Amino acid sequence: MTQPRWDELTEEDVDRLTVRVMRRAWRARPEVRKIRLGGRDAVVKDYGRRGNLFKRLLGTFLARREVAALRRVEGIPNVPRVLASPQPWMLVIEHVNAKSVTALDAPRLDREFFDRLTSLVDELHGRGLAHGDLEKLDNILVTPAMQPAVVDFAASVMSGANPLAALALGHMQDNDRRAICKLKSLFAPELLTDDEQRRLAHRGAAELWFRRLRKYVRRPVKSLATGNDERARG
Ligand SMILES: Nc1ncnc2c1ncn2[C@@H]1O[C@H](COP(=O)(O)OP(=O)(O)O)[C@@H](O)[C@H]1O
Ligand SMILES: [Mg+2]
Repeated sequence: MTQPRWDELTEEDVDRLTVRVMRRAWRARPEVRKIRLGGRDAVVKDYGRRGNLFKRLLGTFLARREVAALRRVEGIPNVPRVLASPQPWMLVIEHVNAKSVTALDAPRLDREFFDRLTSLVDELHGRGLAHGDLEKLDNILVTPAMQPAVVDFAASVMSGANPLAALALGHMQDNDRRAICKLKSLFAPELLTDDEQRRLAHRGAAELWFRRLRKYVRRPVKSLATGNDERARG
């Protein structure tokens, strides 16, 4: 059988090429799978599984945003490249040989890790982008050589996208930096400086409003994207 190309993959191809299901689709969340094609590993994020039409529409929007964000930060080491978007609600990205910091056996990270993570996040910011979801610590990965990597750009914001994004960008970049402090407080609290401790304790009024707004938008969106079968199971 001839191998499909990255940009031609269907759900059936992904089923056939799956090495591991990394996360099952649930409510508005995509299914995340590791696949292997032509000797190369990749990660497929698919919002088309276990959902209704609304989830596909939302997934199309989120997949497009994530593809645009990954293109903006392309070439930064330890950030995966986007390989294709074979369906509007599906994206295929490079597989990074790393696991989430939350899956580490021993929750310990050293100063070098945090210095590198800070540089990585500064590089993202230097491209006019905020990641926006680093507080979910499973989006921060660690390689076998204890290097940081970052995934999941679905919530990121870029300069030049729209006026609202321009307003939110600085706050979200602050939030990214706070996420590093949060990780440090859990994995290496002795490294926290006084300044970082202050940063952890303080949220500006604008940011609180932004978070509140996001919460009110997310709740009905999640509920609309939940399929009837998932609703029945609770
Ligand atoms: N390119 C990648 N390489 C290796 N692991 C990845 C990659 N992308 C995602 N993962 C793993 O899969 C998990 C879920 O993917 P993510 O993009 O965060 O989906 P979600 O938007 O549902 O949170 C991540 O927390 C990470 O552990
Ligand atoms: Mg994630």
